[in-house]
Amino acid sequence: MLSFPDPNGTTLHLLQGDITKMETDAIVNAANSSLLGGGGVDGAIHRAGGPRILDACRIIGGCKTGQAVITTGGDLPAPYVIHTVGPVWRGGGNKEAELLADCYYNSLALAVDKGLTTIAFPNISTGIYSFPKPAACKIAIQAVRMFLEYIEGIKNVYFVCFDAENYTLYERFLHPTLLAETIIREIETAFDGVPAPEITWGQADLLDDYIDHGPAWEKAKQTAWRGRWQDIPAETLRPASALSFLKPEGIRYYFPACMVLALRAQPDCGSDLTESTLFHAEITESLKDYFLARFEPFSPAQKKAVLHFLDFFAFVYDHPNAQRAIDKYWADSIANC
Ligand code: APR
Repeated sequence: MLSFPDPNGTTLHLLQGDITKMETDAIVNAANSSLLGGGGVDGAIHRAGGPRILDACRIIGGCKTGQAVITTGGDLPAPYVIHTVGPVWRGGGNKEAELLADCYYNSLALAVDKGLTTIAFPNISTGIYSFPKPAACKIAIQAVRMFLEYIEGIKNVYFVCFDAENYTLYERFLHPTLLAETIIREIETAFDGVPAPEITWGQADLLDDYIDHGPAWEKAKQTAWRGRWQDIPAETLRPASALSFLKPEGIRYYFPACMVLALRAQPDCGSDLTESTLFHAEITESLKDYFLARFEPFSPAQKKAVLHFLDFFAFVYDHPNAQRAIDKYWADSIANC
């Protein structure tokens, strides 16, 4: 189990396992609006908790999507079950994100009202209701953090992931500091020894507009103007050192560094890397496809490393811990560049 103390005195915990075994004050059930049980975690909780839970649910009579109700825990180790109804994923245009966040807010609010201090959540809506797991993870953690920032009482929140995919996603978002450096080291290893890319002056020009440079980059640019990037010693422009050319605030332009990686495969691809493609677009599947389309000559390890890099930033970029870790990494790298 991984534990992450939050500044407000609550600790978030992450574990992979069966929520019916949790000994918290309450466990949260991903129910349906009838509250009469079902498959997935709903079925597991009713099976393990016994008929008293269903009897209590029948008395309540139902629950709207995004809302939450509380019943006895029956034969479960947890004395209470908070039943909440997640949204069914219908493409994202039906307030699914808001309703999912409401599930976490309302479950926590019920726990506080009841004077409970520890609560365990499953990955609501990510099973039968098909909510995309990365988005659901981010919504869950941000909603819990938002609630804990304003409302006191809860001391421990457990995210209980049943499957490895959810667990990895939660680890990424809860623990980006560790992951930032891990992924960047992965890039360094995967591209170690790869010769400097053939980048034309036009591509350097595009890069040039968006990267705050160190002295090494100025030298690289001067060489590029003469169209002879290949003269730059490989160790000066390895992807990792290209990444480290970015000053801490420059990390916002990590795309150019990834572009360097992508260009490695097809030197001429820089010409269609327009500003709008790179710098005004969020990381989208099309953008990842853009990079993937140029990854062919990359080894599987190289492709995996860069995709981890892209996914990481797409996923946690705005997480302050990630930014701090990355800033420190770049500062160290530039110092050693
Ligand atoms: N412990 C923890 N998590 C579990 C367990 C368990 N014992 N069993 C399943 N899960 C996980 C699933 O792997 C998934 O990540 O709970 C998450 C939510 O999946 P579902 O249980 O399918 O719930 P949801 O996607 O919200 O769909 C709700 O499914 O069970 C029915 O009655 C329920 O109609 C409702 C719908």
